[in-house]
Amino acid sequence: HRHLLGIKGLSEPDIHYLLDRADEAVKISRQREKKTSTLRGLTQINLFFESSTRTQASFELAGKRLGADVMNMAVANSSVKKGETLIDTAMTLNAMRPDILIVRHSSAGAVALLAQKVGCPVVNAGDGAHEHPTQALLDALTIRRAKGKVGRLIVTICGDILHSRVARSNILLLNALGARVRVVAPSTLLPSGMADMGVEIFRTMEEGLRDADVVMMLRLQRERMSGAFVPSVREYYRYFGLDAEKLRAAKPDALVMHPGPMNRGVEIASEIADGPQSVIEAQVEMGVAVRMAVMETLMLSGELKR
Ligand code: CP
Repeated sequence: HRHLLGIKGLSEPDIHYLLDRADEAVKISRQREKKTSTLRGLTQINLFFESSTRTQASFELAGKRLGADVMNMAVANSSVKKGETLIDTAMTLNAMRPDILIVRHSSAGAVALLAQKVGCPVVNAGDGAHEHPTQALLDALTIRRAKGKVGRLIVTICGDILHSRVARSNILLLNALGARVRVVAPSTLLPSGMADMGVEIFRTMEEGLRDADVVMMLRLQRERMSGAFVPSVREYYRYFGLDAEKLRAAKPDALVMHPGPMNRGVEIASEIADGPQSVIEAQVEMGVAVRMAVMETLMLSGELKR
């Protein structure tokens, strides 16, 4: 594991090792003096071909808290706009001798392709509908800290599964840690082959949320849909939007999660997103910690495996 391209291939001990390290990083981030010298002298480049708030900001802060020199490549103003290819862009940055590259791209597999061409570790910050491994790790850390464990919990992932790299990475990780994973989605937003991924499939929120310990909502990714496949927002909210009534089917202390960015009033009611069961802000805080853990592991140990 020189790179982190996905959750696929990580073992349960690998995952718990990273989460343990992230617990330590949370302590650093809660101090007044947050900067350490762990990665002093090392260079991190963030290369985001798709927009991002949480992932890019938290990778940048994570690198800075570890003392690395962090450069955000402004893709919108780069020579990508003049037609330079992904690989040529990567090779150009590689020649500047970075010690780690953090890459987001709209195509599944693009980050893995780039990783073959460069001389440093690469972290997948989201590639198409494929994987978003640090999101799944931060979600697991949030659950583990709130519930004390992940194994044997019932976790229901709801909504636009079809377009979601977050759902794919979470399903892989939650299964690796022994959780019981359910998905709830309209048939048009459920990819084929889901049953082979070790999940139980439900058609209604009422059934899928029954006795759930964790309810994970997903953003309706309307920008990736076209024509007749774009659902009506009003109808979607009625059947698949998480409101107080639907949440009552879950356990009373169930956690409500959302990776962000949220569409309030589409997949989640504002009162639930801001309510007592929501851990959405905790997820963001854990994002910085998990990214610190991943980067120091890859850059200092050279691999993830213990
Ligand atoms: N959860 C997530 O990946 O958010 P951003 O797209 O804002 O990074």
